[in-house]
Amino acid sequence: MKINDEIIVNIEKMTPQGEGLCRYGENNFVIFVKNCLPNEKLKIKITSLNKHFARGQIIEIIQPAKERIKPFCPLYNACGSCQMQICEYDYSIKLKEDILKDIFKNEKNLILPIIKSSKNKEYRHKIQFPARETKNSKRVLLGYFKENSHDITDIKFCPIQPDIINKISKFIRENYKLGCYIEKKQQGLLKHVIARISSSDNSILLIFVLNVDEKKYQKIKGDITDFSNKISNEFKEIKGIFVNLNNKNTNCILGNKTIKITGEDYILQKLENKTFKIGATSFFQVNPFAIIELFKIVKNNIKENSTILDAYGGVGAIGIFVSDKTKKITLIEESQNATQMAKENYKLNNIENYEIFCGDAKKFFEDFKKDNKIFDYTILDPPRSGCDEEGLKNIADISNNIIYVSCNPVTLRRDMETLKKIGFLPDFIQGVDLFPYTYHIETVVLFKKGK
Ligand SMILES: C[S@@+](CC[C@H](N)C(=O)[O-])C[C@H]1O[C@@H](n2cnc3c(N)ncnc32)[C@H](O)[C@@H]1O
Repeated sequence: MKINDEIIVNIEKMTPQGEGLCRYGENNFVIFVKNCLPNEKLKIKITSLNKHFARGQIIEIIQPAKERIKPFCPLYNACGSCQMQICEYDYSIKLKEDILKDIFKNEKNLILPIIKSSKNKEYRHKIQFPARETKNSKRVLLGYFKENSHDITDIKFCPIQPDIINKISKFIRENYKLGCYIEKKQQGLLKHVIARISSSDNSILLIFVLNVDEKKYQKIKGDITDFSNKISNEFKEIKGIFVNLNNKNTNCILGNKTIKITGEDYILQKLENKTFKIGATSFFQVNPFAIIELFKIVKNNIKENSTILDAYGGVGAIGIFVSDKTKKITLIEESQNATQMAKENYKLNNIENYEIFCGDAKKFFEDFKKDNKIFDYTILDPPRSGCDEEGLKNIADISNNIIYVSCNPVTLRRDMETLKKIGFLPDFIQGVDLFPYTYHIETVVLFKKGK
């Protein structure tokens, strides 16, 4: 097999990365293909190849899966974010269940049906659009980077974000005149537009990420303030506008300095009887309609009057949601901004018995072990990379139960093996569809000690 070969394949299954997997030739050589479904017969062209696998691109769908439909997003092909729009929502859930069964082969009997998102369109309540402009006419482009490139697909309409964001981005396209970032030259002002929306009252925070340092910011402060006033007069939903200064040429969207231009510091998101302050830059889950279901799973599995360690706790969301069942919450989080917001969130929800530790979680696991601290439950919600072995061993020593919330079932699988070795056994595996029509799966696993 070589690059540009055209071959006919049958798609076997979907991978955790949302690609179709097929095998070819006598050696059953593995090929990954995007934007396809299991049981489809395809003519593909080989686009890349190494010793272990190849990637192919669809040239012709010879036999479509019976589940294949036309994507509801007009920009499906150009954007590439919602890979699973080529089938109905219920079938995408079945595919995600199959992915979990494939990953957790030895625990199949513990896998519960995935909980769907009560809303699967207009669900995404945090948007991060890179901003660029056309070369000659300097027309503003706001959208997502095309795959493996930094060219932008101008997203004038996105069905998975609240419609108000379509309107705000239209306003920016038509009225913003201060220039956008030109990556090749590392010049130009506006790099990203970020919006956070509360589903409770539709209030919005906007952040303009600018390619300037503090000194240069002072020179354009008046102009950006004028534009901010103009946009907030136009949209009553916008409660606060910020700039974030990031003149570094990295893949990090945000720089270290965020400055409020106008309005409030935060918006309020209600989930059941709890209220959460969401600041401009702190982490909060993007789909409020599904996250509530995930939080309920965690709460239902905690006994009354428990002590909990909310590890990788962000602004304290999970701990606060379950707080009616806790006698003390200990939060660990590395972002100072988020821990400040957590403090305010505890106060807002009348939680008095708490401790907050700001810094690297691993260090605190070690310290707590030295201090012989024991928590009834550790809620473990790490970034996609999961935890390392040493960290997990320390967590095991300070916890009676572990409720692992994972946005990456592959690293969860790895961490599950470590936890099993040290005597923590999975009780159930519950997927929740936080990201409808994408391949992403959020998973909750309750680990109990020495069952
Ligand atoms: C997946 S988010 C979970 C947040 C929170 N549990 C929630 O549901 O809103 C992961 C959080 O871990 C924090 N984080 C990342 N690496 C960390 C580390 N090494 N130590 C402590 N916190 C970390 C991030 O800032 C982020 O707030």
